[in-house]
Amino acid sequence: LAQYSDFVETAYLIIHGELPNAKQRRHFGDLLRLHSPVHSAMDHLFEGFPLGSHPMAILSALLNSLGCYYPHLATNRVQEDLANFEEASAIAISKVRTIAAMSYRKSRGLPYIYPKRTLPYCENFLHMMFSQPYEDYVCTPEVAQALNLFLLLHADHEQNCSTSTVRMVGSSAANMFTSISAGISALSGPLHGGANTAVMGMLQAIHDEGDDGTRFIAAAKSGSKSNRLMGFGHAVYKNFDPRARIIGEACDIVLKRLGIDDPLLHIAKTLEQAALKDDYFVSRKLYPNVDFYSGIIMRALGIPMNMFTTMFAIGRTPGYISNWREVASNPKGRIYRPRQIYVGATKRDYVPMVQRH
Ligand code: ACO
Repeated sequence: LAQYSDFVETAYLIIHGELPNAKQRRHFGDLLRLHSPVHSAMDHLFEGFPLGSHPMAILSALLNSLGCYYPHLATNRVQEDLANFEEASAIAISKVRTIAAMSYRKSRGLPYIYPKRTLPYCENFLHMMFSQPYEDYVCTPEVAQALNLFLLLHADHEQNCSTSTVRMVGSSAANMFTSISAGISALSGPLHGGANTAVMGMLQAIHDEGDDGTRFIAAAKSGSKSNRLMGFGHAVYKNFDPRARIIGEACDIVLKRLGIDDPLLHIAKTLEQAALKDDYFVSRKLYPNVDFYSGIIMRALGIPMNMFTTMFAIGRTPGYISNWREVASNPKGRIYRPRQIYVGATKRDYVPMVQRH
């Protein structure tokens, strides 16, 4: 898929189970274009957020609010919501991109740019991000291709924290928009979707200190969670993360094509080599994950750091959607209820407030 496909086609595959034929692809594209603008009343929601609000907080809140604008798609009655699944999924995929771009414009105090019907998915997103009312952003094929690759590589990934959250919420028969919104909240944590931002912060700190990464590697080996080498390790991949390999190679190609020499890429490569030779990382099977290089590509495309996790959320939306549907359409489905082993105190008597210290 990374070699031959693009994000929209991959989204269709993940949602419908097969690659689209030409007619299906056209229809899907038409639906995405149709649903790209947001309801004008949504502008007021954006206005309610203070300047500098994090785009992930805005994205999660506004995704949830979509159910209010499309009540017929968010009835919380599973069979009815499933009957309108095609429309709801197109709305989610299309509008997550529009809301993301608007949240960026809001965070910068910039005027909103409306989507253009004529532009493909990625180009339209960059238009909404970077055009000005008086000047259109010009997207090169290299930039559109790199963004497609980034989104495609993030489109789904089994039971990660945010996808499991979507399934958990969906299992209560909550509608798709609400379930995706919960997933986006889970994604915002630095150990999950926030890792790409943390990687860039780490690389920038190494650059600013003029260090070669030795200090960060030494600190990461202390075992403290707060000093981890960001972009390293994975809960599932214990040999390598195949996405990291693809995105690492793409980084080289994209930056070369765009004529960018980013010192952070050099630092990342040095750090990777140093860690891969270090027994601490080798013995624990800690390899670069997809986030290690993805921030460098984002930066080359002009995406600001506070939008990195939001970009991940746009890419992951098809995965959330198909996981929600899987849970919602399971005829034997039950509400999720993880069990726990209680290890706290046993019997405790009620202490009146006057006796509490
Ligand atoms: N740097 C230093 N040490 C690490 C790192 C790291 N990045 N990751 C794991 N370790 C160590 C742990 O301290 C532990 O050491 P110990 O055995 O001496 O106690 C050992 O490696 C195993 O760690 P776990 O926490 O069991 O690994 P787990 O599989 O649960 O965690 C995780 C995976 C959260 C991704 C972790 O590797 C991490 O925090 N990485 C940095 C954050 C990151 O890059 N997240 C992005 C994940 S990919 C994604 O969400 C798209």
